Amino acid sequence: MVESLTIRRPDDWHLHFRDGATMRAVVPQTARQFARAIVMPNLSPPVTTSALAAAYRQRILDAVPEGMAFTPLMTAYLTDNSDAEDLAAGFADGVLTAAKLYPAGATTNSDHGVTDIGRIAGVLEKMAEIGMPLCVHGEVTHADIDIFDREAVFIDRILVPLVERLPDLKVIFEHITTRQAVEFVDGSGANIGATITPQHLHINRNAMLVGGIRPHMYCLPVAKREEHRLALRKAATGESTRYFLGTDSAPHHRHAKESDCGCAGIFNAPFALESYLAVFEEEGAIDRFEAFASENGPRFYGLPLNEGTVTLEKVSVSVPATVDGGEAEIVPFHASETLSWRLAS
Ligand code: DOR
Ligand code: ZN
Repeated sequence: MVESLTIRRPDDWHLHFRDGATMRAVVPQTARQFARAIVMPNLSPPVTTSALAAAYRQRILDAVPEGMAFTPLMTAYLTDNSDAEDLAAGFADGVLTAAKLYPAGATTNSDHGVTDIGRIAGVLEKMAEIGMPLCVHGEVTHADIDIFDREAVFIDRILVPLVERLPDLKVIFEHITTRQAVEFVDGSGANIGATITPQHLHINRNAMLVGGIRPHMYCLPVAKREEHRLALRKAATGESTRYFLGTDSAPHHRHAKESDCGCAGIFNAPFALESYLAVFEEEGAIDRFEAFASENGPRFYGLPLNEGTVTLEKVSVSVPATVDGGEAEIVPFHASETLSWRLAS
């Protein structure tokens, strides 16, 4: 019986911090768990240039508590008008780690996203040439495609042709939710990786809809059927080195989720490691947790592995019903549940 687990310090390869008071409230919760995080650029207005990313990075660093070491890895939000030269310069001087493709209208603050991938062909060619990774929100947005099918259709219509055209482009298929996504990644080469969130390993769509509508279980891509959750669990805990930790922790205040048009996003930052580790334990794969949390991501991005370790203890922890979200409270993932591992402070 394992009583504690010590692993190399992990990173979060997909995260939303927001800005202002909310950002200042949530940054310490991630910095406690992770050494680095890929920070999403879907602010309002979005982080579209190297200069905006540099300024945002400084605001995040200013919110890291004294004595905590945390490095935000910045991304630029691609639009139809993105400037390849500016992105390349930001990548070269270390301000940008990646660029993010949001199909216009796919999710929170994606209205300025790319309307047709053909419009950023030059930007993607440049990224492939310089080795700059592309983070992808993989859902089509056409009104005639059922929301539960949007990821699978995106693979066929966008990803397969993209990878064929630009085999050197490093692509992170983010927050995957389907068996089809796992099949696509498994069948791809070394330049295709994927992140998996804790919620998509824990819940299927019933969690959102059975017994009443549960807005705190709603995120995008939306949780799918059980067969998809099981495929994701196998992928995350399996041998492939191209799956890695990305929480997609997405803070929305309670009132914005408990509304007649509730926001998409699950705030899982405070207990992310505890949540993932529960899955690895249930799957009998605790020995593969370190690879998923701390090794596969940096290797895929071509970044150094972290020094230092964190320890998780087999001690139960009660997740609070709400946590501090700056201007208002946020209901975290696993609210009011008990988890059986605890990150040692
Ligand atoms: O559920 C989500 N929330 N999915 C996304 O893609 C964006 C995120 C957010 O920013 O709230
Ligand atoms: Zn996200």
